[in-house]
Amino acid sequence: MSQTATRTSRIHVKPNESGFGAEITGLDLSQPLPPDALAELKQAWADHAVVWFPDQPLTHDQLEAFTLQIGPFGQDPFIAPMEGRPHILELRREPDEKARNFGAGWHSDWSFQEAPPAATILHSKIVPPVGGDTLYADCTRAYEALSPVMKRLLEGLVAIHSAALPYGTKGVFAQEKEARTMKIIVSEEAEKTCPHPLVRTHPVTGRKALFVSPVYTVGIEGMTQQESAALLGFIYKHVTSEEFVYRHRWQPDMLTMWDNRCTLHFADGGYDGHLRVMHRTTVAGDVPH
Ligand code: SIN
Repeated sequence: MSQTATRTSRIHVKPNESGFGAEITGLDLSQPLPPDALAELKQAWADHAVVWFPDQPLTHDQLEAFTLQIGPFGQDPFIAPMEGRPHILELRREPDEKARNFGAGWHSDWSFQEAPPAATILHSKIVPPVGGDTLYADCTRAYEALSPVMKRLLEGLVAIHSAALPYGTKGVFAQEKEARTMKIIVSEEAEKTCPHPLVRTHPVTGRKALFVSPVYTVGIEGMTQQESAALLGFIYKHVTSEEFVYRHRWQPDMLTMWDNRCTLHFADGGYDGHLRVMHRTTVAGDVPH
């Protein structure tokens, strides 16, 4: 990954020092992007996994149109979309809301799906003056930092994913007592399980990454619950350790796009008393391998 700012013909990419995460300026996302600019954007996304574009006021139509330039929409279950906008979720928390902020657990979006989304795109509408950051963990560097022995142990293991813990009929949202603005749809569907390789190869970069999702990964195939809890516990601690985490501070009208194939994210709270409104789309992905 490039670690210095690089100026190209159209876009300016300013990576974080680690190479994980980059700010992109010089583009107007409200308009269709010329093919070469789109190619450069996609390359920067492949290189840095999380990319953000400040100062991009977008209508719903423009957010949808930008998303479709990255790829077809993903399927977003268990959350009612915005009215008339089946592919946009509004992540909204009112100032007086007591329910825990949405997304406050490390996860890769919808990792329990057979083909989880490649990208999530989040566009900030109203940003609280304090708190409300999003944390991202770099699952590629976390994999690469493991010892050869641990890599060999993990290679070939299959993790089981399920939406039951948050969205099942006995899950966290089903038992929630506090009122929530977002409409969550708890369902027996959430209790299904889906196996994925614990180490996956990125289809664009060819790099290997840990593919676990603490909110959705419920075990490792062929291991006892105790064994998989111990191994997963180690992996979660490792991948979310400070050296692999980037804390993203939002500004209004910022669009951020992350790669669910090689990152985890965590929506931080700390903004009680303030409104936070974000609009989210996903881009379909492939079956992990
Ligand atoms: C999420 O998509 O998990 C929420 C991220 C955020 O609201 O910061």
